[in-house]
Amino acid sequence: MKKKSESRRIAASDDIEVSTYLELAKELRGEQPVVEPKLPPGERETIVVLDFGSQYSMLIARRVRECQVYCELVPHDTPWEKIAPLNPRGFILSGGPGSVYDEGAPLPLPYIYESRLPVMGICYGMLAVAYQLGGQVARGPKHEYGHTILHLSDEDCPLFAGLPSSLPVWMSHGDQIIELPPGFKALAYSENSPFAVVGNDSNVYGLQFHPEVVHTAHGKAIFQNFVLQICGCKGNWTPANFISESVDKIREQVGDGRVVCALSGGVDSAVTATLIDRAVGNKLTCIFINNGLLRRDEPERVLSTFKRNLKMDIVYIDATDRFLEQLKGIRDPEKKRQLVGNEFIHIFEEEAAKLGKIDFLAQGTLYPDVIESTSAETKAAVKIKTHHNVGGLPATMNFALIEPLRYLFKDEVRHVGLALGLPEDMIWRQPFPGPGLSIRVIGEVTREKLDTLRAGDWILMNEIKKAKLYRQLWQSFAILTDLRSVGVMGDYRTYGYMMAIRAITSEDAMTADWARLPHDLIARISDRIVNEVPNINRVVYDVTSKPPATIEWE
Ligand code: XMP
Repeated sequence: MKKKSESRRIAASDDIEVSTYLELAKELRGEQPVVEPKLPPGERETIVVLDFGSQYSMLIARRVRECQVYCELVPHDTPWEKIAPLNPRGFILSGGPGSVYDEGAPLPLPYIYESRLPVMGICYGMLAVAYQLGGQVARGPKHEYGHTILHLSDEDCPLFAGLPSSLPVWMSHGDQIIELPPGFKALAYSENSPFAVVGNDSNVYGLQFHPEVVHTAHGKAIFQNFVLQICGCKGNWTPANFISESVDKIREQVGDGRVVCALSGGVDSAVTATLIDRAVGNKLTCIFINNGLLRRDEPERVLSTFKRNLKMDIVYIDATDRFLEQLKGIRDPEKKRQLVGNEFIHIFEEEAAKLGKIDFLAQGTLYPDVIESTSAETKAAVKIKTHHNVGGLPATMNFALIEPLRYLFKDEVRHVGLALGLPEDMIWRQPFPGPGLSIRVIGEVTREKLDTLRAGDWILMNEIKKAKLYRQLWQSFAILTDLRSVGVMGDYRTYGYMMAIRAITSEDAMTADWARLPHDLIARISDRIVNEVPNINRVVYDVTSKPPATIEWE
C-alpha cells in the first residue's frame, strides 16, 4: 500500500458546509488577529510517543498536545537519527497487544535509556521497560479490564502532583510485573496489581493503567505532570506559534514557485489555503470544482467568500454536467464514490494544466491520516466504505506536496483556523462527505432527486440551527430514500418519496449515537418538509446508532 504522501492524493471536500462563509469573509477583512511572537530556534520541544501497537496510541499523542506540548507518534523501532532532530524532551511508550515473552516481541531501542530523558511506559510499554531492565513479568492471576481504584503509595512522586490519594483508573491488561527491576519501587497499587505504578530515580516510570482514556478521571493531570514537571517542557505549542512557524516554512519551501490548492470549502482546505495565502499570497491559485453534489447555495458562498471577499485567486469550475453524466444509471455506493473521485482528479488535472508551470500542490492532510498511512501496512482493517475516494494523481503531474496541517489533529486545525481569523461557525461546522449528496440520494442520482434532497436538507439545517443544536451534533442531514409510499394531501391520494432525517452525536465518527432531538423539533422539520418539498409525503427519523448502522446511508 502506498503512503499517502507518495500517492499524491488530493484532499477532496472532506466537509463542505459553508452556510457561514459570508460571515467569515467579513470577519477576515475586518479585524486581523495578532500573531504572537514565534518560538526562537531550538525552542521547539517534542515528546516522542513510541507506538507499540495499542489502539490508544493516537489518544496519547492528543493528550500530550492538549498540554500545549508538541509530540509525535512514531513506530517503536524508529532509529535515534530520526528522533534527535525533534529535540526530544521525553518518551512515552504506548501499550500494545502482545506479551513481552512472545517471540519477536517489540522492545524499546537502547536510546530511550542512554539519552537520560524521562520515560513513561504505559501498560505494555511499562512491561517492556521492566523486562528490559531486569524485572520479571508474568501473566497475572486475573486479567484486569475496566475500572479499578488506584491507591497512591508515594504521594510525593511528581507524577502524582495534585491528585487525590485514590482515583479511578482504566485497566486493560493480562500480564503484569511480578518482580521489579533493580532500582525501581512501587509508587501505587490496585486490588490486583501491587505494581500499578512504578518508577526509579532516573525518571523512568511505568503505569499499568491507561491515563489517556477518558475513563481515567485524572489522566490529563498525569500527562501534565509528566510533560511539564518531569520532562520540563514549557507548553509553548500554541496555534499562533504554529502559524508563524508554518508561514516561514512555506515561504522558504515555495521560494519563487507556484502553488495550487484544491479548495473544497471544508475547514481543512480553508485553513490550508489561508495559511499558504498568508505566506506567499499571489503565488497561490485555488481550484474550486463544483461537482453538482453540494448543498443549496454552497458553491455561491464558497466563491463569494474566497474570491470576492478574501481576494484569493480562484479558478471556479461548474462541472455539474460532467459528474451527473458519470453517475447516470449508477446505484452502487462504492461505484459512486469511485466515479466522483476519479472525475474530480480528471478535472483538476485539466485545470491545473491550463495554469502553466505549477511547482507545488497544497493538501489539507491531517495527522491521523499520516499515522494511519504509516501503520496501514501493519494493521489489518476491514473495508466498510472507501472514504478517501480519490485515486492517485497521474504520474505526469509532477508537483511537490505542501501539507501544512500534516502534524495537526482536527481540533488543532480548528484552533489554528480561529487564530487565523476564521469565524467560529465555519470552524465548528459539521463534516460533509467528499462524494457529497450522491451518497445521500439512495439509488440512482438525478438532477431532480438532488434538487428534492437539497430542499429537504435546507429545511432540516435551518431548523437545527434555529434550535441552536447545530454545534452539539456531529452531523445532521437529510437522505432521499428510494422508497415511495401512499399519502393523502387535501382530498387527493399521493404517491411520493420518503425522506429520512439523521442527526447523530459522536466523538470521532468511528462510533455514533442517534441524537435525542426534541419531538417538537422533529415535528416541525417533518411538517415543513412534506409541505414545502414537492414529491415528499413522508418523513422518518433514523434511530440507529453506529455500529450497527453507519452514519451515511450509503
Ligand atoms: P460512515 O457512513 O462510514 O461515515 O459511518 C463516517 C464519517 O465519514 C463521512 N463519510 C465520508 N467522507 N468521503 C468522505 O470524505 C466518503 O466517501 C465518506 N463516506 C462517509 C461521513 O459523513 C461521516 O462523517
